[in-house]
Amino acid sequence: MKFFVDTAEIDAIAELNDLGMVDGVTTNPSLIKKSGRDIIEVTKEICDLVDGPVSAEVTATDAETMIAEGRKLVEIAENIAVKVPLTWDGLKACKTLTDEGHMVNVTLCFSANQALLAAKAGATFISPFIGRLDDINLDGMELIEDIRTIYDNFGFETQILAASIRSVNHVLDSARIGADVITAPPAVIKAMVNHPLTDKGLDAFLADIKAAEIKIL
Ligand code: E4P
Repeated sequence: MKFFVDTAEIDAIAELNDLGMVDGVTTNPSLIKKSGRDIIEVTKEICDLVDGPVSAEVTATDAETMIAEGRKLVEIAENIAVKVPLTWDGLKACKTLTDEGHMVNVTLCFSANQALLAAKAGATFISPFIGRLDDINLDGMELIEDIRTIYDNFGFETQILAASIRSVNHVLDSARIGADVITAPPAVIKAMVNHPLTDKGLDAFLADIKAAEIKIL
């Protein structure tokens, strides 16, 4: 399973990238706003740092302008994936941009039928939003399961990019179901290391190291 980091914060990406934890990055207008940076400038910096796909989202809602924005975004670097919303115009932009050989991430997916349309339009990635479905008492994981089944039934190559991940359990469940990629905030990825028995066991070992004056260096 690939790990994408869902942020536009360079330091956080660099820290995880140095550990080999970053297979790509996703950004969106809210994350760009939070960074306080210019979209082109910060996206270029991320692309220079990371080898894998870096999703940068269009701002327009009509296909023609989305396509023009996508063509500008892909000039930033070879690893740009143009992110378009799951609207009819977004699907038109997806088809044109993928036909031109560019990677496209179709975002704001909330139903399996939407995911089916994105795959038909040639999307490189489909981004179903787990957390936002959970927020309204629907089951985000059920959506990932449905998309996995449908894509496998027909051999669609569009990669399932489980997004809007809010917890380590979302990561675990996505891995169990077989999502191709998860994109998560750095804090969620780092929280995956935590286990109370690890802390407890380490405390006990440290106490014995002190008591027995065990030294290696
Ligand atoms: C990723 O591509 C999405 O933009 C992101 O995961 C959305 O997450 P949120 O629902 O926590 O804002």
